[in-house]
Amino acid sequence: MTLDGHPDPGAGSAPMVRLNRYMARAGIASRRASDELIRAGAVRVNGKVIQEPGLSVRPGLDHVEVEGRTARVPDDYEYIVLHKPLGCLVTKSDPQGRPLVYACVPGLRAGTVAVGRLDMDTTGLLLLTDDGELAFRLLHPRFGLWKRYEAVVLGRPDEAALTRLRQGVQLDDGMTAPARVEVVETWPVEHGCRSRVSLEIHEGRKRQVRRMLRVVGHPVRQLTRVAFAGMALDLPEPGQWRRLRADEVVALRRRAGLDQDTDHG
Ligand code: URA
Repeated sequence: MTLDGHPDPGAGSAPMVRLNRYMARAGIASRRASDELIRAGAVRVNGKVIQEPGLSVRPGLDHVEVEGRTARVPDDYEYIVLHKPLGCLVTKSDPQGRPLVYACVPGLRAGTVAVGRLDMDTTGLLLLTDDGELAFRLLHPRFGLWKRYEAVVLGRPDEAALTRLRQGVQLDDGMTAPARVEVVETWPVEHGCRSRVSLEIHEGRKRQVRRMLRVVGHPVRQLTRVAFAGMALDLPEPGQWRRLRADEVVALRRRAGLDQDTDHG
């Protein structure tokens, strides 16, 4: 049944979803527990208390509140991936008037923010979203999501340096967790060489990659984030951006431990 008491409309209308399923997708509770919340009168749709678990709602159109708080499903959120250009700041405003990443994506919603930070002199994959729960989980060390960087460094890290990075190095704010690291290529330059190093970490301390590589004797000259939480950077040019596809949003939310029970019927 729809809100008007009619059977669900067919193809061509706004997609409908049962209220308990909507609540599960919004991360409120499992579908069974949602049924109980609905029967207990804790759920309002468009301002009206609804006590019928079988009711269908239109995500993005109907306003669902549970115990007074708006319940939103991923379809209601904005998910953007940006190839962050060099020289842009990941902040909402800068007193010195430097370029901001938010200016790279025209028409962003006011509530959409970057998921974590990249330094001004780092390029690469940056997610932007107003899905606060996902953003929180993507950054929280408890969920251990990996970020892969490619760094151009001075010299060529030897096995001893790589082993130190793999085991964890001492920084001024403590030991780092073990990293995955390898040298991708090395090329000669005047008075020495440079190497491209692939480094994966699941922490997110300030300037962590630069500090880790400096501690083992290989200062970073260029840094790009090439993957984040299982998503690879597929936008070749800095400044390019796109919206995530629905399947990418689903995969990302799953990796962050959300929406685990929404696939079954
Ligand atoms: N580590 C750094 O050193 N810089 C970044 O921007 C991200 C990770």
